Amino acid sequence: MAASRSDALVLFGATGDLAHKMIFPALYALAKRGALKVPVIGVASRKWSLAQLRNRVKDSIARSGGIDNQRALHELMSLLSYVSGDYNDPNTFTAIKKALGNAARPAHYLAIPPALFETVINGLGTANLAKNARVIVEKPFGRDLASARELNRVAQTVFPQDSIFRIDHYLGKEAIMNILYFRFANSFLEPIWNRNYVASVQVTLSEDFGVKDRGAFYETAGCLRDVIQNHVFQIVALLAMEPPADRNFGAVHNEKAKVFQAMRPLKRDDLVRGQYVGYRKEPDVAKNSDVETFCALRLFIDSWRWEAVPWYLRSGKYLAETATEVLVQLKPPPQRLFADSAPTTGRANYIRFQISPSSAIALAARVKRAGKEFVGDQRELYLVDEHAGEQSPYERLLGDAMAGDGALFSREDAIEAAWAVVDPVLKTHPQARPYKRGSWGPKGADALIVSGGGWYNPQP
Ligand code: BG6
Repeated sequence: MAASRSDALVLFGATGDLAHKMIFPALYALAKRGALKVPVIGVASRKWSLAQLRNRVKDSIARSGGIDNQRALHELMSLLSYVSGDYNDPNTFTAIKKALGNAARPAHYLAIPPALFETVINGLGTANLAKNARVIVEKPFGRDLASARELNRVAQTVFPQDSIFRIDHYLGKEAIMNILYFRFANSFLEPIWNRNYVASVQVTLSEDFGVKDRGAFYETAGCLRDVIQNHVFQIVALLAMEPPADRNFGAVHNEKAKVFQAMRPLKRDDLVRGQYVGYRKEPDVAKNSDVETFCALRLFIDSWRWEAVPWYLRSGKYLAETATEVLVQLKPPPQRLFADSAPTTGRANYIRFQISPSSAIALAARVKRAGKEFVGDQRELYLVDEHAGEQSPYERLLGDAMAGDGALFSREDAIEAAWAVVDPVLKTHPQARPYKRGSWGPKGADALIVSGGGWYNPQP
């Protein structure tokens, strides 16, 4: 299919949490930019009226940033319609067809529990609603290698490959897009961006809140599936990939997929799992749950560039800070000319990517202190990268999918290769160790990093 614009959006899961938190605000933002002109058909099993859906949309926008543009709100309201029905019932799809009217190239957004993806995709196929259509699938795409393969197989029996848009909202974040740009728009990085100069790389995605009302989902996922296999791995791929042959995003996808393919499958000892105290008392969580709310791991990428460089990845709920950061630790100078050029307590040379809450890149160096002695201080050259009025990831990705632009979406081979890395430890793993809320996770995680100053904890 040529990259023509979708002429309708069918939103499965319209009464759900994701729609409320992310998708309605994104549609409103598109409407504000004058970029939403197509009917939006909400679909869900609840027997709501259109008025109820409209109220839900208003509430969502009000909570996410406020209603500051009546024209855009009015436009979004006028584009909405609602179909209520069971996804297993063919009548639901007949009703969607009717609601689509003359629209011939719909985009179907599956903002629904992953267990229902296949049902809806098959329903769309049977009802002939997949023709000239696109499907946007939320993560997690599968829950292990086998289920991801099966989901890919089902999706591709109904939709052509380039009409399947697998969302990982991290790919739509400015600061993450900037990793690709910063690496390949500058020449000074490439000579040191390899095993000869890089001692280790750390990625931390920490959150200072718990699973909130998502206990039921979290029980089926856990931290490794929820954010490491996708969000954190995507960051790793952008940091580790070879230069793409050209700007064409197919070339970028190819290089990223190669990184996942070169990752060494995880072993039991590469992983520390944790669970915050009180998790088992959260709503919809099993009283004896072993699901991890924290995960730290050591990973190797078996490639020419990264051979023997450890990648330390960590994420967790109820940690000390909400922040996502990367720390690329450089090796010390070969000769220790100054006593403090490789301080045991500090990190000397590193490159730090702050992804959130603020977006910046810091280059750390030793700089001589004034005076006769050759002793120095640790300094950071700090490149702030904030843009006022930035598009949110969902606004960007929704607009891209409807325009048929797959650049910022995950490709099937990459997703499957990423599952192959974590697959061995999804079932066979150490028990989740308890950790205090507001800490940096269980103590055992420290043992994963034997040298190099330990974990870098993002500062507020
Ligand atoms: C989601 C996970 O994909 O990403 C959540 O399901 C997590 O558990 C969230 O909190 C983090 O996203 P962000 O953009 O808030 O860092």
